[in-house]
Amino acid sequence: MTYSNDWWRKAVIYQIYPKSFFDTNGDGCGDIKGIYQKLDYLADLGVDALWISPMYTSPMKDNGYDISDYYRIDPLFGTNEELYQLISAAHSKKIKIIMDFVANHTSDQHQWFLESQQSKDNPYSDFYIWKDPKPDGSEPNNWGSHFGGSAWEYCSVRNQYYLHYYAKEQPDLNWENEGVRQAIYQAMRFWAEKGIDGWRMDVITEISKYTDFPDYETNSEIPVVGFMHSNGPRLHEFIQEMHREVFEPYGLMTVGEAQDSDAQMAQMFLDRERKELDMMFTFEHMDVDVEPDTPNRKWQLQAFNLPKLKRVFADWQTSLVNVGWNALYFENHDRPRIISRWGNDTDYRYESATAFATILHGQKGTPFIYQGEEIGMTNIKLPLSEYDDVEISNNYQELVEKNQTLSHKEFIAAVYQIGRDNARTPMQWNRQENAGFTNGTPWFPVNQRYLEINVSCDQVDRQSISEYYKQLIYLRHTEAILTEGSFVLLLEKDEKIFAFERTLENETWLILANLSAETLEFPPSLRREHSRRIIQNYPEANQTVLRPYESTIISYQNK
Ligand code: NOJ
Repeated sequence: MTYSNDWWRKAVIYQIYPKSFFDTNGDGCGDIKGIYQKLDYLADLGVDALWISPMYTSPMKDNGYDISDYYRIDPLFGTNEELYQLISAAHSKKIKIIMDFVANHTSDQHQWFLESQQSKDNPYSDFYIWKDPKPDGSEPNNWGSHFGGSAWEYCSVRNQYYLHYYAKEQPDLNWENEGVRQAIYQAMRFWAEKGIDGWRMDVITEISKYTDFPDYETNSEIPVVGFMHSNGPRLHEFIQEMHREVFEPYGLMTVGEAQDSDAQMAQMFLDRERKELDMMFTFEHMDVDVEPDTPNRKWQLQAFNLPKLKRVFADWQTSLVNVGWNALYFENHDRPRIISRWGNDTDYRYESATAFATILHGQKGTPFIYQGEEIGMTNIKLPLSEYDDVEISNNYQELVEKNQTLSHKEFIAAVYQIGRDNARTPMQWNRQENAGFTNGTPWFPVNQRYLEINVSCDQVDRQSISEYYKQLIYLRHTEAILTEGSFVLLLEKDEKIFAFERTLENETWLILANLSAETLEFPPSLRREHSRRIIQNYPEANQTVLRPYESTIISYQNK
């Protein structure tokens, strides 16, 4: 099946976390008008589409991923009208708008849930997943919440528990109920009618549940988040229905969040013939420094392992050939800053930011840039009480205070490394107070490094990360080899160098980066005669060594 009309294959998509992007009314939170005002900045960067995290009405327990009205923009961000204006202004600059849809759960303040919890026989009673207690009154099974503790919350009015994979204020919808599915499709159509260009589907692999809700096998008392939380028996059927009902009629691009899917499973979602999704965000490459299968989940870290990262990427690159299309990312609002996590955000901030960008944008797929990544923003270190993220507070209570499976010190070290709030600090625009993000008091602390790291400085810096991004984006738009070329991983076992080749007809691009702070010998096996540098992050090319975080793309004729 051909993809030739799919605009997103040549596109680079920029993610906006609206609360932290740009505030125009001085309330300390970013807003729609703020995105509007920065459209020229985004157009200048060259991005083709914006994925904007949820802006619907929400009590903001999970910053908008807890929706209480699918049809209305939260006043914090502005109005529906303002969003419609943003869509048309973006379109006039040839920028598409991808909205974020949360179909797995709502807020507990959504009208459906407020009614559902009232009784077992009202029109919404079956909109959520309710189960009777076990005979001893305890939870229906030992399933855990991603945010810590049990996935079940007791409701005395119904004398039942409801399921919540995330915070207890985010009850899971019952996708077995046809009425739920139609209500969701209707809300999606509402926005499609307003001219949006696509959806990012939040935790889409979790919507279908194993409806017999068996316990996980374990000797421990600690609730388990495991394989049964995703990829339930009716998942593909539901996504295909959604495709028929919404995606296809409106020609929408889709990218689904795919925790617990490997590249082989992804083939099912992405095979064009199956009419499901266009792309998926894998978690696999993001988990290479997380110890598998511990009750401490993402908070139990292990050393970064480059060969493992390369294996995962190569697996996705090769498994989807002629089947589906990759979504490429290192950062988003749930991930820390890549240069703080696996690069070097002090001595080699420019070099490591551009090296990771080269590796990502050099692969086959659609690259996603997260706000601030294009200027090399970095992680933060705050006292625990200053963090905002519900994932951090709930997991702290569960793992450190209750289960004591992690010490305070271990937990905070993990927060510094991979906590979600690292990415949620306000966007750093300039050297003015609050980094130019707001005239008021920012909802979340500005990263103290803003005097050194901000858009204005980056734009005039001799070593401008955003300039490098612009070059990469330009290459993505103009060079078919990046879209179409085959992928072959090189130096698979090398612990410091990430290298691969892309080939289209008789041209090959060697894409490589030294992902270490050491100067290495330029691998003899990668030396190419009669080659030409397409891009590089050191001013002068050097054929004998790879300097710290040096990266480049080298073109040569393969025949
Ligand atoms: C994934 C979102 O990206 C994350 O921010 C959110 O907390 C969960 N889904 C729950 O909606």
